Amino acid sequence: MTVPKRLFVKTYGCQMNVYDSARMTEVLAPIGYEPVSTPDEADMVILNTCHIREKAAEKVYSELGRLALLKRERAAEGRKFMVAVAGCVAQAEGEEVRRRAPVVDLVLGPQAYHRLPEMVTRVTRAGGGVVQTDFPVESKFDHLPEETLTGVEGRGISSFLTIQEGCDRFCTFCVVPYTRGAEVSRPVSEIEAEARRLVALGAREITLLGQNVNAYHGLLPDGSPASLAVLVERLATIDGLQRIRYTTSHPLDMREDLIAAHRDVEALMPFLHLPVQSGSDRILAAMNRRHTVDDYRRWIDKLRAARPDIALSSDFIVGYPGERETDFEATLALVDEIGFAQAYSFKYSARPGTPAAALPDQLADEVRTARLERLNDRLKSHMLAFNRGLVGRTVDVLFERVGRREAQLVGRTPYGQWVHVPAPRALIGVVTSVVIEDAALNSLSGRLASSIAPTADFFGARA
Ligand code: SAH
Ligand code: SF4
Ligand code: F3S
Repeated sequence: MTVPKRLFVKTYGCQMNVYDSARMTEVLAPIGYEPVSTPDEADMVILNTCHIREKAAEKVYSELGRLALLKRERAAEGRKFMVAVAGCVAQAEGEEVRRRAPVVDLVLGPQAYHRLPEMVTRVTRAGGGVVQTDFPVESKFDHLPEETLTGVEGRGISSFLTIQEGCDRFCTFCVVPYTRGAEVSRPVSEIEAEARRLVALGAREITLLGQNVNAYHGLLPDGSPASLAVLVERLATIDGLQRIRYTTSHPLDMREDLIAAHRDVEALMPFLHLPVQSGSDRILAAMNRRHTVDDYRRWIDKLRAARPDIALSSDFIVGYPGERETDFEATLALVDEIGFAQAYSFKYSARPGTPAAALPDQLADEVRTARLERLNDRLKSHMLAFNRGLVGRTVDVLFERVGRREAQLVGRTPYGQWVHVPAPRALIGVVTSVVIEDAALNSLSGRLASSIAPTADFFGARA
């Protein structure tokens, strides 16, 4: 019999790390690890890390500093405490992680999660450390147990499902092709089976994940490749699965059949995160994005023709080496032209080993910070305008959880905004018509459109 041990996983970075954290928790369950919600309660801590910007990577080392103190306290009590670093910092830095932070027992890259039990057992039995950052030939997906967890981030009414990993695009600023390796798509039947299991666990919405998700080209059972559009069409036939989203896409892989799916597949939500990074052709070329601003405009026009209400989202990098004021102004102009419903903006961060980090004309931090502020102001005004445009409209909301206020539920619109609504608990997991009454930058509020107002009795019976 295994003695129960307690596991705390802290996740940094993108949704793929959120997905991976759930899978790591599942892979450790058979050897007795149960999830807890703070490091203080844990016997083992996994930091699932992100290397995308310097700040993200540095956060990990300050957390490791705190964990070193905790480990010392535990040692004084004669108790074991294991620390693992997983994710993209682990992949990028390997052995270096243990040199910089000797508190770390295990270092493992994103492709090695299925080996966690064996690594943990090795450290427990023999002591010392283990580093595993090669890209194994076998796929981790063939060795991970079936999904069982619910109620953790990325596993619930709205769940994540990784369908593609790695990236072959090599944008000059980006570490992902180095930390996640070459692009690999999972087979269609494997994804369908996982989607069905997630729905059986309660998922009503699935977000398909990949670093370059619309480059998906997994195999069908007959051995022919399926595009993301084909995969989405097949998933849309799963009973109980009401909403499908996908992220993150590269504009160059935005193919006609996927654009058409936004018109034809009802379950595919009218929202698309399509990062453009910059509104300047000169900077796009320098970044190796391999398309122009005009190309981007054309894709957006096609998407809007296919699905007129589609809400658009993007990522932006400001202060790329050599970015001039005129380049930056072109980005602001594109923002005004497209009117993004959602957007993320980042100050360029030079990453070791990437081509852009070696460029001579790195911009001063003051310039990057000032541009980031200007861009943020502009993006915020568009986000707020989009949200305000929903006021007075009736939209479908998929309720995911209870809100902070009593008798309040929180769910999302088809366009991705959170909405707070007075509603009975019984509506969790149900797509419901909601009249939007108020809008702020990060959330909306509304009331149930149905004339049957929930009564106190109703709350009492179901709560
Ligand atoms: N695969 C996605 C991006 C993953 S990284 C895509 O191609 O769009 C998420 C975002 O982080 C990127 O879109 C980019 O805007 C930002 N980013 C990546 N590298 C960065 C860097 N070195 N400095 C600042 N932001 C960066
Ligand atoms: Fe990075 Fe995305 Fe470019 Fe790939 S496509 S290199 S993940 S920014
Ligand atoms: Fe970060 Fe790795 Fe995701 S670098 S953004 S955790 S792919």
